[in-house]
Amino acid sequence: MFIRPTDLWHHYGRTRHATDRTVPDRFLWSWGQDAGPGAEALGEIDGRCIGDLGAGAARHAAHLAVHHHPARIIAVDASPAQHAMAQDLYDLLASRLRLVRADVRRHLHATAGTYDVLYSVFGAVDFVEPRELLPAAAAALRPGGRLVFSTLAHHLGGELAHPDVQHTEIGAKTPEGAAATMHRWVLQEQVWSKLLDEAGFTRISTETLPGEPGPRAADTLLVTAFRPGQPP
Ligand SMILES: C[S@@+](CC[C@H](N)C(=O)[O-])C[C@H]1O[C@@H](n2cnc3c(N)ncnc32)[C@H](O)[C@@H]1O
Repeated sequence: MFIRPTDLWHHYGRTRHATDRTVPDRFLWSWGQDAGPGAEALGEIDGRCIGDLGAGAARHAAHLAVHHHPARIIAVDASPAQHAMAQDLYDLLASRLRLVRADVRRHLHATAGTYDVLYSVFGAVDFVEPRELLPAAAAALRPGGRLVFSTLAHHLGGELAHPDVQHTEIGAKTPEGAAATMHRWVLQEQVWSKLLDEAGFTRISTETLPGEPGPRAADTLLVTAFRPGQPP
């Protein structure tokens, strides 16, 4: 018998969802969503096929659909709750933004050689075993395609990121409010670089975006890598 996994993303972004129905006018990568580089980190967007891995309510993807001219923008998220929030907010953009409820691994395996750009803003790249996700992302990109993701540069609270490929158990909540845990990969930049290299990426670069001071502040690691080859 198939038992549907509990949706541990049920509560994420729910307060904002109740009060903010706008399309953001900026695309930001940082943990605090307050500063740092924007959509230019994605490279050329207009006319390109773009995928958001772990899009949540799809606010970043909605920004790209409205403020840029991608050929296609596809926002993928496995959480029924997040997908429902995205539909509620942005179904009106359906001609420009496609919302897909799927595990990113399954989606990437089904879309080999499709994407010019894949990105994740503290999205699925943080929550899926990287030795599964990164090779699937490389295969889903066209030659010369770009992967960009923002991830924690250190654990919340300040503890260093892991120096090897090891997940952290972090606290989560079931829809009913019971305590649960999930895996999050908080890795040092050289670990991400090695994993990307092993997954077949090239021209790998990282940049640390310092967090603003505050109790939940965190530095962001912004990582960019390319599938080898020339874009057609
Ligand atoms: C911290 S939220 C970030 C959401 C969004 N990128 C944002 O900036 O608001 C992480 C998201 O990744 C999604 N996610 C985690 N693992 C996933 C997987 N295997 N496949 C698809 N989505 C996944 C979760 O459902 C959640 O919506």
